[in-house]
Amino acid sequence: MSLLPPIEPCDPAPLRDRVVLVTGGAQGIGRGIAQAVLGAGGRLVIGDLDRDAGRACLSEWAVGERARFLPLDVAREPSVRGFVARALIAFGRIDGLVNNAGPASPEIATLSELPLADWRRFIDGHLTGTFLCSKHALPELRKAGGAIINIASSRVLQSEPHTEAYAAAKGGIVAFTHALAISEGPDVRVNAISPGWIATEGWRKPTARRAPKLLRRDHAQHPAGRVGQPPDIGALAVFLLSDAAGFITGQNIVVDGGMTRKMQYV
Ligand SMILES: NC(=O)c1ccc[n+]([C@@H]2O[C@H](COP(=O)([O-])OP(=O)(O)OC[C@H]3O[C@@H](n4cnc5c(N)ncnc54)[C@H](O)[C@@H]3O)[C@@H](O)[C@H]2O)c1
Repeated sequence: MSLLPPIEPCDPAPLRDRVVLVTGGAQGIGRGIAQAVLGAGGRLVIGDLDRDAGRACLSEWAVGERARFLPLDVAREPSVRGFVARALIAFGRIDGLVNNAGPASPEIATLSELPLADWRRFIDGHLTGTFLCSKHALPELRKAGGAIINIASSRVLQSEPHTEAYAAAKGGIVAFTHALAISEGPDVRVNAISPGWIATEGWRKPTARRAPKLLRRDHAQHPAGRVGQPPDIGALAVFLLSDAAGFITGQNIVVDGGMTRKMQYV
């Protein structure tokens, strides 16, 4: 008798009936992750500041009770507390949390001219939001043996000028990720995804949606031959949320078409 398992076909619905919360899930990368969760058989709660965008998702997806939208500001604890409580009322359990929300464009000002309020906007929107959502979802995630994914950035590894607040917030998220993975293992796995350039213009709410204006050289500079899209992040998020990733925790996985591995001399 062989001790080896038999060959099994891949599961077409690796998140079947799992309940996943995606912050900032109504647009951009978050929407890509949300759609990937639905495609993998999961049940979904998207939380977002933009109510129009959230409602548009539900009407465009038309998946009935399998997806909910709840208004959310990840930087405000009462809002986060209410979001998690209402998600629990809706579905009765929480198996996954994707901390994706936050102000996306990093360039603001030179550090000597950066107002404290702008610094705080980035730290609160990314790092504090990731802390608050994790804090309030953890009791349910522990019960379910669930997983957290934090969306960081390839900017934790490389920078353009005048991006200190964003880079610091995202670097904090990567450190928060391995710290929490050690605290919460083996009950809850915690990983980060660091996207590179992801074109999100086509993934906005209908009134703001447009085709991305990408040049040939934008694609060509990527070792993978193209700029990224939200489903590139969604695919990894589904894997990290699934049982197939049961031996992966505390990691930061870069999804950037190879850009951070490319030697640059000019
Ligand atoms: N697009 C990229 O190239 C890229 C690259 C690396 C990392 N990221 C990160 O990915 C995540 C998503 O970025 P994106 O480009 O899809 O952004 P986006 O602006 O297209 O979408 C962000 C969504 O989050 C919501 N949101 C913003 N602040 C919020 C808050 N305080 N509470 C709740 N919802 C909030 C917005 O309303 C929006 O729907 C961000 O964390 C961003 O830093 C993006």
